[in-house]
Amino acid sequence: GKPRVWISRPTFPDIVARLEPYFEVTAEPEETAFMPAALAAKLAPCGAAIVGLKERIGAAEVAGAPALRIVANLAVGYDNLDIPALTAAGILASNTADVLNESVADYTWALLLGAARRMDAAERWLRAGHWHATGFKAWLGLDTRGRTLGILGMGRIGQAIARRAAGFGMRVAYHNRSSLPAAIEAECAARYLDKPALLAESDFLVLAVPLTAESRHAIGAAELAQMKPTAVLVNIARGGVVDDAALAAALGEGRLAAAALDVFEGEPHVHPALLALDNVVLSPHIASATWDTRRAMTAMAVDNVLALFGRGPHAGRPPSPVNPEVLARRPAP
Ligand code: GLV
Ligand code: GLV
Repeated sequence: GKPRVWISRPTFPDIVARLEPYFEVTAEPEETAFMPAALAAKLAPCGAAIVGLKERIGAAEVAGAPALRIVANLAVGYDNLDIPALTAAGILASNTADVLNESVADYTWALLLGAARRMDAAERWLRAGHWHATGFKAWLGLDTRGRTLGILGMGRIGQAIARRAAGFGMRVAYHNRSSLPAAIEAECAARYLDKPALLAESDFLVLAVPLTAESRHAIGAAELAQMKPTAVLVNIARGGVVDDAALAAALGEGRLAAAALDVFEGEPHVHPALLALDNVVLSPHIASATWDTRRAMTAMAVDNVLALFGRGPHAGRPPSPVNPEVLARRPAP
């Protein structure tokens, strides 16, 4: 019979329908938090799986899935996947690189400006019926003009964030594992700084690094202490990149002006100290959530699955493999 594909989250039926000529498709009708054993049971009969960040997949989850050939992640980041374990099992992992860059960059600016101008707290105030008590000097926020935007992690998303800064009259500095080619620095009008200098100089610091062993708690108590007390921190990367308890303490004690966070350690749990603060804008990991981008992400996952099985427009050449060495070892049929 046809190989089976499991889709762990509700997506877009018209896009997923492209799998149906070649696969037996099972799509979860609602968002579900799968425990490891349930996840393993879902994967067991599958040739392919399209999953989200909530699905943590490693050696134990794939051990009972002998036919599984690809795990297509509905995200650009893939810290939910144990890539060495998948590679060892001969399973391709794919992500949704690039299709979400512009939407995530737009949302980063929404968060940055929302925190700078205190939009969410002002809205809560209005909804609570306090407008009559709002004076000329109420809700004073921070300007962006002439300030320094620092970007930690200058991949494609960081670059898309940087390109928007010119419209706000900001200087851009960045830190990255390695500095970028001069042409890209020029296009982004961004200058490279070492991490301590970036922390010290940024008026707005945006985190756009993948979560890895090296980037875990890249912003902790020591780093927060190096930042300006007037600075704003924006995290659209991964929760584990920031020590949320240390951040809440800095915000609560006035050692940092504000923060805007789309991602949290241990999602969907949010540190209660963050929930209690008024100078932090919070959102539930939605930076890529636009109609166009979530559809494009779904299409990319579908394209990776089709391609690995020698079908569709990219037959034999999955468009966004994370561990392409698997392809070299195991050519498409
Ligand atoms: C979302 O966080 C992603 O990695 O795409
Ligand atoms: C503000 O709305 C102003 O008119 O200054």
